[in-house]
Amino acid sequence: MKIEYLGHSAFQIITEEGMKILIDPFISGNPVCTTPVETLNPDVILVTHGHVDHFGDTLEIANNSGATVISTHEIATFVQKQGLNAIGMNIGGTVNVNNLISVQMVNALHSSGLDFLEDMEEGGVASGFVITLENGKKIYHAGDTGLFGDMKMVIGDIYQPDISMLPIGDKFTMGIEDAAIAAGWLQSRIVIPMHYNTFEAIEQDPNLFAKYVEDESLGTFTLIMQPGEDYEEE
Ligand code: NI
Ligand code: MN
Repeated sequence: MKIEYLGHSAFQIITEEGMKILIDPFISGNPVCTTPVETLNPDVILVTHGHVDHFGDTLEIANNSGATVISTHEIATFVQKQGLNAIGMNIGGTVNVNNLISVQMVNALHSSGLDFLEDMEEGGVASGFVITLENGKKIYHAGDTGLFGDMKMVIGDIYQPDISMLPIGDKFTMGIEDAAIAAGWLQSRIVIPMHYNTFEAIEQDPNLFAKYVEDESLGTFTLIMQPGEDYEEE
């Protein structure tokens, strides 16, 4: 399994079977992203909420690649209206893709308007995803969110993700202190910080986050990725 970090909250996961899962593809407008949008050819695109720094280039990439977009019912309906493939779901639900992976939609404490439209449309509730790969490994992408108790009670204790991607930028999401508490609750083997240092408003020191994580959870390794960087494991 390979995880590619595209900057901000955009990741691509490539599974053992070669399936490409693109999450929150904010690419062309993303000042730290080095990946050209036309090189992306995913099988599925997961969109956590409607904000432009997450929905990003979803329409163009889905159009180029034929990828299916998986998001809230409201965002999926918007994508379908553009003539593209989308699966709508809601919090708590799970969708299986090609009998290889499953995607469960989980809570996020945030908003979800389609803010890039001239007349902002509602994107439903904001969400996160717990993705279960063919080998049973689970990856949690928190989307944009504040700290909430079900990160411990539901996502940590019950779903038990192996790897968690957490926003640390503050202002619009958790900052580093709260994100470190989340890491302690989740008890993942690896946490990857995201949603920071893209813009001035969300400047953070990921090394300080890593130090706080160490205080909250000894068994958790903080993997700080640079945009364009990959991480690979069995
Ligand atoms: Ni947002
Ligand atoms: Mn955001």
